Amino acid sequence: MQSVARRLAARGKRIGLVPTMGYLHEGHLSLIRRAKKEAEVVITSIFVNPTQFAPNEDFARYPRDEKGDVRKIKTAGGDIVFAPKASEIYPADFQTYVNVEKLSQTLEGSVRPGHFRGVTTVVAQLFNITRPDVVVFGMKDFQQSVILRQMTEDLGYPIKYVVAPTVRESDGLAMSSRNKYLDTVARREALCLYYALKTARQMVAAGKTRTAIIAQEMRAVIRATCPTARIDYIAFTNMRTLESVRNVQRGTVVSLAVRVYGVRLIDNMKLR
Ligand code: PAJ
Repeated sequence: MQSVARRLAARGKRIGLVPTMGYLHEGHLSLIRRAKKEAEVVITSIFVNPTQFAPNEDFARYPRDEKGDVRKIKTAGGDIVFAPKASEIYPADFQTYVNVEKLSQTLEGSVRPGHFRGVTTVVAQLFNITRPDVVVFGMKDFQQSVILRQMTEDLGYPIKYVVAPTVRESDGLAMSSRNKYLDTVARREALCLYYALKTARQMVAAGKTRTAIIAQEMRAVIRATCPTARIDYIAFTNMRTLESVRNVQRGTVVSLAVRVYGVRLIDNMKLR
């Protein structure tokens, strides 16, 4: 992959990169299409990255469908699929990690310690291997997109950084590879996240900006839609710094993580 990328660069081709863990859906494909607008050659990586999963998480059962993925990537206009083996990315004596110190500690980081260290480490490697001119990430993983932007700037990668909007099912559920874990009842009640976000948006549109009040209403909506849901957090933060805000203002994003019948789902919405 490294020598292919170098040859492409030597021929003056602009390279786009879309990192994924596979089991692709329309959300991923929208990133590939977006990358194709920015670059002549689009590389899609498929790698279920072991270092971003905690021992108690779903690494072993994370859904995989490489054949189907390759077909979808072709249809979306992707040019190259990079699907390394774990032993190529992490040889036995591997010991170097990239960590974005502050931003990795809040929200997802506080519930999933070590998660973002795995994400930044693998994405730095993907950058080094593929040498992209442009990279596209999804807003679906809001905090991840903020952390990786910071890493890109801090380490001086000469890469155009694009964050593309969240693609949703027709009823509003954010597309996710993990939606596969939802049975019929859980799939219906998983809408609690989207309903809560819509409630937040409506309240802001009606001039209510106190985040504590909005959060209270969101909790009520979640309880009404999915009585057994466990809320990990509902957070109102600045979209660049992840600092929390008491009142919704320009650049405020509300994000939440909810366990629906044991399946952990995340979603977010820009409020202003
Ligand atoms: P994965 O969950 O496969 O997501 C790959 C990319 O697709 C991420 O940028 C994610 O934000 C984006 N994405 C997922 N669902 C989306 C949706 N509904 N709409 C738009 N974009 C969506 O995120 C990862 O993999 C990994 O952490 C990775 C960055 C590849 C590092 O291992």
